[in-house]
Amino acid sequence: MGLLASTSADGRLTQNLSIFDPASPPAEQIRQLFILVLTVAAVIFLIVEGVLLYSLWRFRSKEAAATEPPQVYGSMPIEIAWTAAPTLIVFLLVLVLARTTYEVRVSPAQPLEEGSQPLFVTVIGHQWWWEYFYEKYDSAELNFIAANELHVPVSDARVPRPIYLTLKSADVCHSFWVPRLAGKTDLIPGKPNQMWFQTDKTGLFLGQCAEYCGTQHANMLLRVVVDEPATFHQWCQDQMRDAAGDPKEDQRVTDGRKEFLSQSCINCHRVRGTPAKGTYAPDLTHLMSRQTLASGMVANTPEMLRDWVRDPQKIKEGCLMPAFGLSKEKVEQIVDYLSSLR
Ligand code: CUA
Repeated sequence: MGLLASTSADGRLTQNLSIFDPASPPAEQIRQLFILVLTVAAVIFLIVEGVLLYSLWRFRSKEAAATEPPQVYGSMPIEIAWTAAPTLIVFLLVLVLARTTYEVRVSPAQPLEEGSQPLFVTVIGHQWWWEYFYEKYDSAELNFIAANELHVPVSDARVPRPIYLTLKSADVCHSFWVPRLAGKTDLIPGKPNQMWFQTDKTGLFLGQCAEYCGTQHANMLLRVVVDEPATFHQWCQDQMRDAAGDPKEDQRVTDGRKEFLSQSCINCHRVRGTPAKGTYAPDLTHLMSRQTLASGMVANTPEMLRDWVRDPQKIKEGCLMPAFGLSKEKVEQIVDYLSSLR
């Protein structure tokens, strides 16, 4: 798991989950706000504790404790000082918070930067995986569906490539949180939310569903792969293709497809270009283009895939795919087919 969390597609070590290492404007805004609030709170803490410690030290002798200090019954200047100071501090924080909120949120009225190439994706949270509907990139319609690994293009000095996400849920509340890219935004049934981020760093960014959503909430992991524009473009082209059968394909793949299509797999999963049209579970059209299975839980290896098809409950207990009690041979056939979905 450790290895999975820290290795990108080309094996480079990339990741941490720290909000103190932002790689996108909304994450940077949130870091600045956090540091400001922390500083204000730290100064107040130091003053209050300082006065407390000073008093303990200053009046520590027995005689000082025995004599009663002067009794003050109300003092206008003091009252005004300790009412005005906190009010001012709270007012200042409200202003800064309002500015940050404005900069972090997506405003529909906000015009796109000249020459930018925005990507629009609808994210649908499911128990316990992510569905991505790619709508538009720059001016090109995409209209394909992917799952669990979000690929986006990197920005550079000349061309900003902001990513706009529309967040929806198929069941309960989830929350999309990739700490280095942006703050948390909830996916609420019946109430679409918006968020955005933009980064000039390629590589893998990790995140996590941040709203308790049931048994496997902790394993509803997020992977955002930031690609060079050319790589991203190619990835989109590959994802748009149907799962076309290779005319020279192995007999094992042909048999596997037959087996797959005869099982209940197709009630939930979709493989574009075949009769499998389920929409309840992750789209498998390009399953092999993903690094992980089970929403980032395990590496996408033939062994793991076999274990998953045999009994998903052993890997992700409580997930909505049951063990179908398939024979060893049928499992092999289905894995052979799934392994051909590049
Ligand atoms: Cu989805 Cu927690």
